[in-house]
Amino acid sequence: MTRIVYVNGEYLPEDQAKVSVFDRGFLFADGVYEVTSVLDGKLIDFEGHAKRLARSLNELDMRAPCDSDRLLEIHRELIARNALVDGMIYLQITRGAPNDRDFAYPARETEPTLVLFTQSKPGLAENPMAKTGMKVISIEDQRWGRRDIKTVQLLYPSMGKMMAKAAGCDDAWMVEDGAVTEGTSNNAYIIKDGTIITRNIGTEILHGITRAAVLRFAREAQMKVEERAFTVAEAQAADEAFITSASTFVMPVVELDGKPIGTGKPGPVAARLREVYLEESRKAAMH
Ligand code: PDD
Repeated sequence: MTRIVYVNGEYLPEDQAKVSVFDRGFLFADGVYEVTSVLDGKLIDFEGHAKRLARSLNELDMRAPCDSDRLLEIHRELIARNALVDGMIYLQITRGAPNDRDFAYPARETEPTLVLFTQSKPGLAENPMAKTGMKVISIEDQRWGRRDIKTVQLLYPSMGKMMAKAAGCDDAWMVEDGAVTEGTSNNAYIIKDGTIITRNIGTEILHGITRAAVLRFAREAQMKVEERAFTVAEAQAADEAFITSASTFVMPVVELDGKPIGTGKPGPVAARLREVYLEESRKAAMH
């Protein structure tokens, strides 16, 4: 089955979908994106993603191509046209394609580019990594300063994944001024004496939609949560660690820079949070 993607008002087979060489996403990484997961053909936390998207656009003074009801309609249409059961929907908006390359923003009337496509991941919620846990390395955080805006400037996170791969690991946690900011494409957490510790929100990290939900469920379950910076040494001495993101949900981390965390196996708190997150998200998922 050929994948059907959405480009600027049209649903097209993926090999017929095109954007201009002058597109500012292509030339300047002048674009924002969202990744929303789909389980059993239903959208997980669409509203959270739509809200963050609106914030990203606003922070960059970028025009929205349409409202969030229309975006929801396109998400649903793509799920239907591609018979998507489990996977993700990637959405990208750029400042459009003026007719030349110019650092200055184009005129406000320039139509933004809107692209969406599905990624099928059968059994997304049954990722075997949840049983074994991930190994991560720490690397210097060399990204720009507005990581709260979900832009498509992903070269450094991409380099980070390659550094992790070269070290025989699954991902990298980025470190700035001695403290962990976040993973290359996820938020980072440690657990010590039953307390969940994760970086406070600000411009240094992306305000994860999964993060917000997981912290809400943790607090509802009377677990202690501390939103603050933590070091690599503190993480290595923690009882457990994990990450969250739309595509991995809650995923245990069992090793950091070659040192086992806790028992070196996925811990009970991370496992419980994963279970609760999946259960609650499935209940609230949108058709
Ligand atoms: N990444 N931090 C960064 C740097 C991210 O890129 C992401 C998401 C997150 C987690 O955010 P959320 O829970 O809203 O997915 C945190 C997506 C999944 C990606 O780039 O594929």
